[in-house]
Amino acid sequence: MILTGKKVAIFNVANRKSIAWAIAQSIMKYGGEVILGYQNERFKENLEELIEGLSPKPLILECDVNSDERIEEAREIIEKGIGKIDGLVHSIAYAPTEALKSPFIETGREAFRIALEISVYSFLAMSRIFREIINPGGSIITLTYYGSEKVIPNYNVMGVAKSALESSVRYLAYDLGKDNIRVNAISPGPLSTLAARGISGFVDMLQLHRERSPLKRNVEHREVGDTAVFLLSELSSGITGETIYVDAGYNIMGM
Ligand SMILES: NC(=O)c1ccc[n+]([C@@H]2O[C@H](COP(=O)([O-])OP(=O)(O)OC[C@H]3O[C@@H](n4cnc5c(N)ncnc54)[C@H](O)[C@@H]3O)[C@@H](O)[C@H]2O)c1
Repeated sequence: MILTGKKVAIFNVANRKSIAWAIAQSIMKYGGEVILGYQNERFKENLEELIEGLSPKPLILECDVNSDERIEEAREIIEKGIGKIDGLVHSIAYAPTEALKSPFIETGREAFRIALEISVYSFLAMSRIFREIINPGGSIITLTYYGSEKVIPNYNVMGVAKSALESSVRYLAYDLGKDNIRVNAISPGPLSTLAARGISGFVDMLQLHRERSPLKRNVEHREVGDTAVFLLSELSSGITGETIYVDAGYNIMGM
């Protein structure tokens, strides 16, 4: 029970397939307490169903990251209801659908802005706004993808966003190191989720991954959740600013 006594806020759960929910389950399995975010009313019912029967029932709260005020409101609710926390998980990304279907060169100014603001700036804003309620020794995690460093057809502007996200992890790790707060990214192989289904050719990505990864399979949600437990726990106390692949080894292959 390596997370006993640790409180972790996780943003955002859309449904039972969300990586955020997999991370929540692993945290609870290892003794930690979770606070769970959802983007808007549309997802609230899903989350209420997921936590039904859990005891103690986690605090759930709405957090749309398109404004700093909404993030501040979320922090205040947590501060009042729970107090300080030991971990923050940012599992949020969005790009307008057309940007994930047309060639990258066609990406418009507005689609680019939205993708980078929701998928990258929100991580910086959340880290800054939550900083004062994270205990020393705390850990911040975000979720990235291999499309940050290699071309994955159709991933397009999300690849650019994930590069910026991984760079932000390093700069935030530097800034927050003096508070003894660590910042890392997990880079999972493809997992069937609501966000992933929005990428054209996603099913082919799953198949290619099975065929080419050294372990000859796709990764499971649980494996990403368990890696988050490691990064949130004392076991990883010397690790910050890193991107950790949970991809059955796919990224090491040259051919
Ligand atoms: N599924 C994969 O194959 C895969 C692989 C690598 C990385 N990731 C990353 O994992 C993270 C979680 O995605 P997922 O695959 O679990 O899909 P998901 O759809 O379950 O989760 C995405 C979450 O982002 C939230 N979100 C989108 N716009 C938002 C906004 N404006 N404000 C607040 N929340 C907002 C959604 O409500 C949802 O809860 C993303 O960063 C994604 O890029 C996913």
